[in-house]
Amino acid sequence: MLLSIKSKKKSSLNSHIFNKADQLHKALQQERAAGKTIGFVPTMGALHDGHRSLVLRALAENDIVVCSIFVNPTQFNNLSDFQKYPHTEEKDIQLLNSINCRYVFIPSVDEMYLEDPKLLELNFGALENTMEAEFRPGHFKGVATIVDRLFKIVLPHNAYFGEKDFQQLAIIRSMSVQMKHEVNIIACSTLREEDGLAMSSRNLLLNNDQRKAAALIYQGLRKAQEFIPHQSVDAVRTLVIRYIEQSPLLRVQYFNFVDPITLENINSWNKNDDVQGCIAVLTEGPRLIDNINYIIE
Ligand code: PAJ
Repeated sequence: MLLSIKSKKKSSLNSHIFNKADQLHKALQQERAAGKTIGFVPTMGALHDGHRSLVLRALAENDIVVCSIFVNPTQFNNLSDFQKYPHTEEKDIQLLNSINCRYVFIPSVDEMYLEDPKLLELNFGALENTMEAEFRPGHFKGVATIVDRLFKIVLPHNAYFGEKDFQQLAIIRSMSVQMKHEVNIIACSTLREEDGLAMSSRNLLLNNDQRKAAALIYQGLRKAQEFIPHQSVDAVRTLVIRYIEQSPLLRVQYFNFVDPITLENINSWNKNDDVQGCIAVLTEGPRLIDNINYIIE
């Protein structure tokens, strides 16, 4: 008897899967009307422990947590990247179920774009002329558009994003202010594999040799700290790039030392400054990004 009650209880905690925006919106209105706080974790699926850590934090800090899974076509500046993007929906739902994430939103492309295919036109100032914006034109317009739409559907109190996508976080903060969303944007630290590689859905697309080589990225980022502030910004950048490119399987697309708020390049080390090192690395498979914070002593 006890057993059956237990299993009943467990199944009642299963995630509710929504495909329709208006149905999710209505269900969440009821939760909000009942005084519940709503945490939101938008994702593109192929969930890993990094995503899981965001959902767990949201679960700890809110009454209700919504996780969305949507591979957003408008943020891919390259069709083959979109087509190759991993889909592991069944596993994703199992993961969300296992940690009792109650609301899962898995809309179709039509659901998100058919009625209104127009993308959001916002001005992100210096944020949109550097790093990811430079090498992935249009990417952040797609990100800002989809996150704005998701925020309007979910109306979260708190939304959780990874520092792994450092520039995305800055863009989303800016979008949220410009669109007057009443949501706290919460930055969560990057989860890494044992060898330091930042967890990413795209890591699934690395072959064995690329995967091994990819550990050099984080090692390289950490190596910089040994040379700061004794060597110039340019010299440290060159050292890190050389370190990573010791593998013929990796090519650094950019490596910038930037101000963590404005993302503008810094040209010299100033004591007690907070500096972010942001990097993108090309492999013959996926393109990988990572970043690390340095304190200048
Ligand atoms: P996706 O790459 O699936 O990432 C979803 C969220 O998980 C993002 O906030 C991302 O920064 C975070 N994340 C990814 N890897 C992480 C790691 N290793 N540690 C901690 N957090 C990590 O980012 C997107 O999707 C999309 O651009 C999205 C915001 C959903 C809009 O489509």
